[in-house]
Amino acid sequence: TSLAAALDALPKVELHCHIEGTMRPSTLVDLARRNGLDLPTSDPAELYRYDSLDSFLEVFWMVQSALGRPGDWARLAYESVVDSAAHGVVHCEAFFTPARHLAAGQDLAAIVAGLDEGLAAGEAETGARCLLIADMDRAFGPAVGLQQVQALAALRHAGARGTERVIGVGMDSTERGIDPASFRSAYDAARAAGFRLTAHQGENSPASAIAACLDILGVERVDHGVPVMDDSELVSRMVGERVPITVCPTSNVVIANVVDRLEDHPYARMRTAGLLATINTDDPALTDLDLAQEYAAVAAAFGYGWDEMVHIALDAVDACWLDDAGKAALR
Ligand code: ADE
Ligand code: ZN
Repeated sequence: TSLAAALDALPKVELHCHIEGTMRPSTLVDLARRNGLDLPTSDPAELYRYDSLDSFLEVFWMVQSALGRPGDWARLAYESVVDSAAHGVVHCEAFFTPARHLAAGQDLAAIVAGLDEGLAAGEAETGARCLLIADMDRAFGPAVGLQQVQALAALRHAGARGTERVIGVGMDSTERGIDPASFRSAYDAARAAGFRLTAHQGENSPASAIAACLDILGVERVDHGVPVMDDSELVSRMVGERVPITVCPTSNVVIANVVDRLEDHPYARMRTAGLLATINTDDPALTDLDLAQEYAAVAAAFGYGWDEMVHIALDAVDACWLDDAGKAALR
């Protein structure tokens, strides 16, 4: 439709995108071959199959394990910028989650430098910009998370390549059975080191866990935040303080199965309540979509027209972590 075409051209900000989740299936096949990784199938169309958050995370881990050398991170990052910019992304704050790679002996400095090299090449070609958020993988526990934060802070202090691009710290992976408060020291260390703070919460956990992220971890944004509407006090507070929620509606349908159809997603109620709820892709290659398609799908599901979609795009500018001049340049 013409709305979909206009949304493709609309300059957009992406605030919830895992860079590993942007890996083209063809790149996965190629990297797996070079790095001696066995894939369950060599048919690119069949690689990204899952039916729950747990089985999705296994696919995500397979993608991560294909990243064996610094050059692989650079290729991933370059392709990520080029692919998203082709659909109107002008500014991205992308997650990377290195715990698995660090446990396997990779060097954090080499990962960040590899990402920086690829992102810089993609930026030079497209004019888009991509900053990074270092996510802790909750499955590895809070002690490993704290170590990761300390290692990043040390690299930044030493002026290591690409560390100025890593503006924030977050956490992702499984939520079940994990108390977000257990990551308090990691968040305290990240704040003290000058990182911006966010956390995945409410993909697979109740509203009380979102409140804990705000109260105990001091996060500035919440990634997913699906059950927020269950707690009216939490809603008033997040509306009043304009705490951004980076919502990934299609991901919530196809990955976490939070709702069966986009039409049943609380996103529209979140907007009506006045929440700063943005639209994001989460893992666009693994769900076979791009940010423009995500905008179009949300518009179709809730009957939003152009003006409402532009409003949402501008809210994402407000929610990003650039300074006022950087935000003004995006409006
Ligand atoms: N890492 C990548 N995608 C994720 C998701 N949807 N939930 C938790 N961790 C993730
Ligand atoms: Zn995510």
